[in-house]
Amino acid sequence: MNALTAISRTAHAKINLCLHVTGQRDDGYHLLDTIVTFAEIGDQLTFENGDGVSLEISGPEAEGLVANGSNLVIKAADALANVANEHRGAKIELCKNLPVSSGIGGGSADAAATLVGLNDLWTKEYDSDALSKIGLSLGADVPMCLHGKPLRASGIGEQLEPVSMPAFSMVLVNPRVGVSTPEIFKALVKRDNPPAPRCPDSDDLSEWVSWLSRQRNDLQSSAIALHPSIQTALDSLETCASLLARMSGSGATCFGLFENDAQAAATAETIADQHPDWWVVATRSIV
Ligand code: C5P
Repeated sequence: MNALTAISRTAHAKINLCLHVTGQRDDGYHLLDTIVTFAEIGDQLTFENGDGVSLEISGPEAEGLVANGSNLVIKAADALANVANEHRGAKIELCKNLPVSSGIGGGSADAAATLVGLNDLWTKEYDSDALSKIGLSLGADVPMCLHGKPLRASGIGEQLEPVSMPAFSMVLVNPRVGVSTPEIFKALVKRDNPPAPRCPDSDDLSEWVSWLSRQRNDLQSSAIALHPSIQTALDSLETCASLLARMSGSGATCFGLFENDAQAAATAETIADQHPDWWVVATRSIV
């Protein structure tokens, strides 16, 4: 491969359209049944050959992130280099567009993009199963972020099944509270909730909205109890006539689904005007 070639990847936001907590493993990890889609918006990463592994972080959501070994991008690069016995190094740039600790998998998506980007840069040809195995050692959400398309996940999030669904017009709203995922799981009152029933196998918007409105995010009430502004974010989406408004992951980001992109864009503008300190974007999911 040409030494000057740069590889670019987008680390797409992960949206948990529903998230049922169905049990807990002996090691403390929770068993989940979740339907996930990915949004066009994401972090941008570029990978070039370099001496050692280095990371530079820029972008609107870069504040507070450190470019050291605690960053999932570096962890992913190190994990792949170890498995592959690779010593070539990489210069990685991360433009952070997604808020951190926000329930839309930014760190996991960055790790997934790094595994795929460096697999290409280092011409390793690991297949998706091998990358998923490395990914799971970095975080429960990394395998689904590697998949990057609508799916149903069970186990702790690593057992994946592709799902057919429409591309949703959506608004993402984060009321600017950083949420600790372990803290939300710890605060759960009930851990043995029923899984979701069989989901639609179609790209029909109203069928999906009707099905999703009967499902839950079992982390939502404990997240709201700890961070009441999540309820305010949900209310803002409901007031703007979203088809469905719900929290993603362990929060605090909430999503609203809309009939079309124009309604989503108008809603994002309204909510951003009312809450200039919040993170608000209109986007579309990927199918
Ligand atoms: O795997 P990841 O590092 O993203 O998870 C962060 C934390 O969230 C875990 O340490 C665990 O406390 C909690 N978690 C869980 N069950 C899951 C996924 C995450 O309890 N399925």
